[in-house]
Amino acid sequence: MSMRPKQYVEWLSHSPKTTKQIGRKIGLLLRNGDVVALFGGLGTGKTTLVKGIAKGIGLKKESQVVSPTFVLIHEYKGRHKIFHMDWYRLESLKGFDRALAEECFNSQAITLIEWADRGKKTLPKEYLRIDLEHGGPRVRRIRLSAKGRTKNFLCLFHPKLIRYTIPKSEGGQSREE
Ligand SMILES: Nc1ncnc2c1ncn2[C@@H]1O[C@H](COP(=O)(O)OP(=O)(O)OP(=O)(O)O)[C@@H](O)[C@H]1O
Ligand SMILES: [Mg+2]
Repeated sequence: MSMRPKQYVEWLSHSPKTTKQIGRKIGLLLRNGDVVALFGGLGTGKTTLVKGIAKGIGLKKESQVVSPTFVLIHEYKGRHKIFHMDWYRLESLKGFDRALAEECFNSQAITLIEWADRGKKTLPKEYLRIDLEHGGPRVRRIRLSAKGRTKNFLCLFHPKLIRYTIPKSEGGQSREE
């Protein structure tokens, strides 16, 4: 058993709608300069969750949120400026793309990244990490944790999020181990 404290909040979502609602709750808590890195395979719901997060940040039109494929970054305007990146097509993040990503991290905007594993080394010291997994055709496991001694860490214990954690009987909860 690992001695390192592990803390996270976990949900089981049974529909895209629920995934968006979870995203919205997360988005409501984000602040200027926050970085959210999403990890998870094809179709695990990253873009769906990003739609919800953007809504929580105050973006009115969810239809605006589409993964940037031919450019590195999409920019939306909510309560704060939002940068949306998808690193799927990058074998690894380097050169000009990397410099642009770093510029986003150092900005006052909130940055949301799909396929963050492609550029893990470039991620800032502190960020909010979201892992998504298939749990069945319509089921997705969504786990929120924080990297670094980040202010975001506090949000893991925010009552608004805790309220959304799945009960112990369903196999998960916010926990310390
Ligand atoms: N509980 C759920 N939450 C989210 N999406 C779900 C859920 N159940 C089914 N789906 C479906 O799974 C797909 C998720 O697509 P989405 O584009 O959000 O995934 P993604 O992780 O961004 O994929 P990609 O890696 O291709 O970008 C959608 O077709 C959606 O309708
Ligand atoms: Mg996607």
